[in-house]
Amino acid sequence: MNYNPNVLDCAAAPIAEAWSWVKDRNASDLIDMCQAVPAHLPPQSLLNHLAEKISSGEGATYTDICGIAPLRNALAENIQQRYRGDCQLDDIIITAGCNQAFCSAIDTLCAEKDEVILPLPCYFNHQMWLSIRGIKTRYLSFNAETAAPDVDEAIELINQHTKAIVLVTPNNPTGSVYSPETIDAFYRLARKHDIALIVDETYRDFIDHKIPPHKLFADPDWRDTLVHLYSFSKVFSLTGHRTGAVAAGPGLIGQMKKVQDCTAISAPHAGQLAALYGLEHLHDWKLEKAEELQQRAILIKQAFEHPQLNYRLICAGAYFAYVQHPFSVNSRDVVKALIEHFNLVSLPGSYFGQNQDKYIRLAFANVHEKHFDDMIGRLLKSQQLDLLTRSKI
Ligand SMILES: Cc1ncc(COP(=O)(O)O)c(C=O)c1O
Repeated sequence: MNYNPNVLDCAAAPIAEAWSWVKDRNASDLIDMCQAVPAHLPPQSLLNHLAEKISSGEGATYTDICGIAPLRNALAENIQQRYRGDCQLDDIIITAGCNQAFCSAIDTLCAEKDEVILPLPCYFNHQMWLSIRGIKTRYLSFNAETAAPDVDEAIELINQHTKAIVLVTPNNPTGSVYSPETIDAFYRLARKHDIALIVDETYRDFIDHKIPPHKLFADPDWRDTLVHLYSFSKVFSLTGHRTGAVAAGPGLIGQMKKVQDCTAISAPHAGQLAALYGLEHLHDWKLEKAEELQQRAILIKQAFEHPQLNYRLICAGAYFAYVQHPFSVNSRDVVKALIEHFNLVSLPGSYFGQNQDKYIRLAFANVHEKHFDDMIGRLLKSQQLDLLTRSKI
């Protein structure tokens, strides 16, 4: 059998690879900061609701390609409130998770050899999908001081093949939250060139809910430019139910229905019911969890102020801390050594694009803050490891 060369060339699935370096995933001293997953289950009320729906047979069927109307409506209302802008049921298509939202949006926008602009570091699955589809990725360089992309650099990268700019805010892997002004500048650039601005806001519920993350939904013309991607995975702890969404204009939604029909047919019905319950009943629970995470971000920043620590925190927010390690070996070797000698699991910066070998990503949402001192202690000890201090890239 011969395989698609684009798939052969694509890097291995990162989380699975990092886990393959761990000997015992159930070890009691394991500190797991690998994958971005909520540390808690959904509330019991959601689980009970779902059990009832599933045992009645609801959830076992396909839904409309775009998803069930009450969920589309509830998400549109959530967007109206969160962004103080306009969004309607017809602007929403429910997907099998936010990853599938991205893949379908890209398939709707781009053909092979088209180009997409991604800021570095970038979310690995975005990069992987673009390379599997034979789409050229143009990168915006990483500024470790601002941890935000520079719109002037993007101007230089746009050409007749460019179909979209992708922003992830709050960012995976840096945790950086882009300012409304930065997002607006990219929006105006995309609009000027008649290309899409894809904004993946998987982590938007974990930042200050009183301030709209950006003003784009308040622009009456947003449907011509914005493609908003959302996930129910983290906000309601539904990662296994594979439910996400796209909010976009009628042009993109209309075309994307063809892609959805061929791939998912419809997003998982049970996940849609769970997400609807979340939007209708779990507002306070969501805010409570968001506050816990915001507090955790403050605590991880404080933990990295340890005077003997040579690991430098570049940025922390939402789910992630992006950290510069002190060694002259590549980030894979650092992560492997931290696993082998200290049972601390993180991800290498190299998974997030070029020139990221100086960094590692710690997904702090997974780990209660009571473990932070222990984590810092392990990082301190790693500074003595011969393996790391003597080797060169
Ligand atoms: C930026 C970003 N987008 C999308 C996803 C995937 O979300 P979902 O579980 O909804 O597919 C993740 C998950 O880690 C992510 O970090």
